[in-house]
Amino acid sequence: MNIAFDRITEKGFLDIEIDPRLDLFAEIEHLKKEKNAILLAHYYQEPDIQDVADFIGDSLGLAQKAQQTDADIIVFAGVHFMAETAKILNPGKKVLLPDLNAGCSLADSAPAGIFKEFKEKHPDHIVISYINCTAEIKALSDIICTSSNAEKIIESVSADQPILFAPDKNLGAYLNKKTGRNMLLWNGACMVHEIFSLEKITKLKIRHPQAKLLAHPECEEAVLAVADFIGSTTQILKFSETDPSTQYIVATETGILHQMQQNSPFKTFIPAPPTNSCACNDCPHMKLNTLEKLYLCMKYEVPEIMMEENLRLAAKKPMDRMMEISRAAGLIG
Ligand code: 13P
Ligand code: SF4
Repeated sequence: MNIAFDRITEKGFLDIEIDPRLDLFAEIEHLKKEKNAILLAHYYQEPDIQDVADFIGDSLGLAQKAQQTDADIIVFAGVHFMAETAKILNPGKKVLLPDLNAGCSLADSAPAGIFKEFKEKHPDHIVISYINCTAEIKALSDIICTSSNAEKIIESVSADQPILFAPDKNLGAYLNKKTGRNMLLWNGACMVHEIFSLEKITKLKIRHPQAKLLAHPECEEAVLAVADFIGSTTQILKFSETDPSTQYIVATETGILHQMQQNSPFKTFIPAPPTNSCACNDCPHMKLNTLEKLYLCMKYEVPEIMMEENLRLAAKKPMDRMMEISRAAGLIG
């Protein structure tokens, strides 16, 4: 195990060569049993990783699963803030992330030092932060929210209480519209959800007049304005399963199409086009995790998420508040 630890520091993952004859799916299943490990994956992970996961979910579902598990090891196939959240909620477990460099542009858009100064300029505001932020930002917040509970979280705060919302300005603007609040917004955004082209989506809608546009609330206002349904990844997926239409344009990261197609094999799902011809609707952070890195991470039990206890306790407070409000609203069991 120690050999692995030294090799991880530079690259953020183990670069040990793997025997190409190994059946990685079978190996990962074996490691799960042997180590009593649970594999949690976000919908933006590559299809192979989703297929081998024990649970796939949105940020709220994953956080709840991480909190409730009695496994000894939580392997988080997602990005750093998600694995960090698992550690905040369930510190007794070993939490592993296949690539330590799997970050998030949204979380990066709120550096703790600058955010703290901003917060201090608005002492009358309470801070509601989207879960896509670092543990340091969580520790500076009063309540955390995800895309699936944000509306309820905001509604739980009295109407005359000023709110500072961070770090996603698009989600914040969408929530201001939905709730009629005038939250002060931090100027952050997700590099993936900002890239969708309204012009190309409009053209696509003309070519596929029956197709419904499904959008994640991290998208820009102009895209959300023409969406037929807006929700978290789980909510979008569920909508696509129960809605009677057969064609959808999907304005979120492409990984979700794997579950959509699997759960509704006779429906058509078209990824919403980005502004240029890049693959920018693939999240480069999420896609840093691969089946190979996942296997090595489980085998050698690195990289592991570590957190200083004072920071963890401070970050847990607003997470607990989120869970309480979500439970009271019937969003989680
Ligand atoms: P949800 O899966 O909670 O909707 O979040 C989407 C996202 O951007 C995660 O990084
Ligand atoms: Fe962050 Fe956006 Fe990637 Fe989600 S899709 S992890 S918000 S950069």
